[in-house]
Amino acid sequence: MKKINAILFVCLGNICRSPLAEGIARDLAQKRGMDLKIDSAGTSGWHIGESPDSRSIEVAKNNGIDISYLKGRKVNAYNDDSFDLIVAMDRQNYQDLLRFFSKDKVVLMGDYGLEGRDIPDPYHYRDLEGFKKIYEMLYLAINRLYDEISECN
Ligand code: 4NP
Repeated sequence: MKKINAILFVCLGNICRSPLAEGIARDLAQKRGMDLKIDSAGTSGWHIGESPDSRSIEVAKNNGIDISYLKGRKVNAYNDDSFDLIVAMDRQNYQDLLRFFSKDKVVLMGDYGLEGRDIPDPYHYRDLEGFKKIYEMLYLAINRLYDEISECN
């Protein structure tokens, strides 16, 4: 892997999965002493300017991470090309991102320690359980991603 200075996490709405990924990634980068630019965005513009889903905020908070200040935004083909790595939460996000960015910088979150599994869209989940599961998946995958980045940086 090339040297990575900036990572963008992308899902559909930028209110459930990718803000949680951003919060975990910021927390782990600080704990591991990695100097990274980290952000998140959605492939849709449905939730621009909105706070993360209350369940993502709660799961993050239960793990000592504050994501309540984040605001939804749509991925931007021009500005976001400055990121070295663009991490898609599921295969649909991955396909959508390939319309904007070169294939060598778009990766699937599930390829880091999750046997290629998608991070499932939790928008219609009723309670916190699914969000807890997503937190665990993201925590594992981002640690694995950081292991790979650290080997090359
Ligand atoms: P996210 O979840 O992509 O993880 O932020 C979703 C949020 C909103 C919608 C779908 C997924 N939506 O259909 O509005």
